[in-house]
Amino acid sequence: MTAEPEQDDTHSLERSAREASGMAYSPYSDIRVGAALEAEDGRVFTGCNVENASYGLTLCAERTALFKAVSEGVKSFRRIAVCSSLPKTLMPCGACRQVLAEFAPDLEVIVLGDGDERQVYGLGELLPGALRRGDLA
Ligand code: THU
Repeated sequence: MTAEPEQDDTHSLERSAREASGMAYSPYSDIRVGAALEAEDGRVFTGCNVENASYGLTLCAERTALFKAVSEGVKSFRRIAVCSSLPKTLMPCGACRQVLAEFAPDLEVIVLGDGDERQVYGLGELLPGALRRGDLA
């Protein structure tokens, strides 16, 4: 087969991230972020940023998606698409990189702006030397 179905999958993952950003609760920053996390079994878990009057309690879209997945028993992942309402791409924060690396150190990370801007990274390049479970032994 050609690469077409895979491209369709990518578009659909990106669309899911975009849709999830519509659920953002972000009255403080006014930035809407959506994430779509694709599990190894093909299931997709979405998340949005959820802010709080106590600013530091805000949860990013990526961690919302990951915690939804793990709380449903899913722990292996292939890719995550993250989109924000800003014109340029919003990079995943350090906390999200670390939390994603716990489960998927080789995760493909697709970041999208509100327009055409799109970048693809490996999580290993975004967080080299991540603290791993094995480091605690
Ligand atoms: N945000 C995310 O949802 N993901 C990131 O990786 C970066 C930041 C959210 C948190 C906050 O609601 C807003 O974007 C501004 O930081």
